Amino acid sequence: MIAIGSDHAAASLRHAVIEKLKSENIPYVDCGTDQSPSDYPVIAQKVCKMIQKGEADTGILLCGTGIGMCMAANKMKGIRAAVCTETYSAKFTRLHNDANVLCMGARVVGEGLAAEIVGAFLDTGFEGGRHQRRVDMVMALESEGADD
Ligand code: RB5
Repeated sequence: MIAIGSDHAAASLRHAVIEKLKSENIPYVDCGTDQSPSDYPVIAQKVCKMIQKGEADTGILLCGTGIGMCMAANKMKGIRAAVCTETYSAKFTRLHNDANVLCMGARVVGEGLAAEIVGAFLDTGFEGGRHQRRVDMVMALESEGADD
């Protein structure tokens, strides 16, 4: 299951990505929003909570740049979010980082490229092996205190 969300800057891209998911019979939950203006951290939290609860495996978060969504998502436990503007990064953030949230910017990528990026992300699995240890090291940073 994919949880998808956007702020006002990327509502139109969100609808375009949803059309792609629908056309490929990929199950998704639309976490909104079509409200304008809207605050991207609220949507990032909704999508990431679904992943934390096991209600979704993957998130797609869209805003103007993808960056605000990515920053917010990566504050949440268990989330590994990556901003991608091309397919190489989308593929390798799955292979090497086991990313579970794809972030894109509607003011950066067009609908055609976004569809390709989503395809690369969803079609690629985590490579594991030597990358597992590094992903574990990244996740261990979540429990570090400010004065460690
Ligand atoms: C909204 O104008 C914009 O700041 C937001 O969509 C996003 O790009 C933030 O990172």
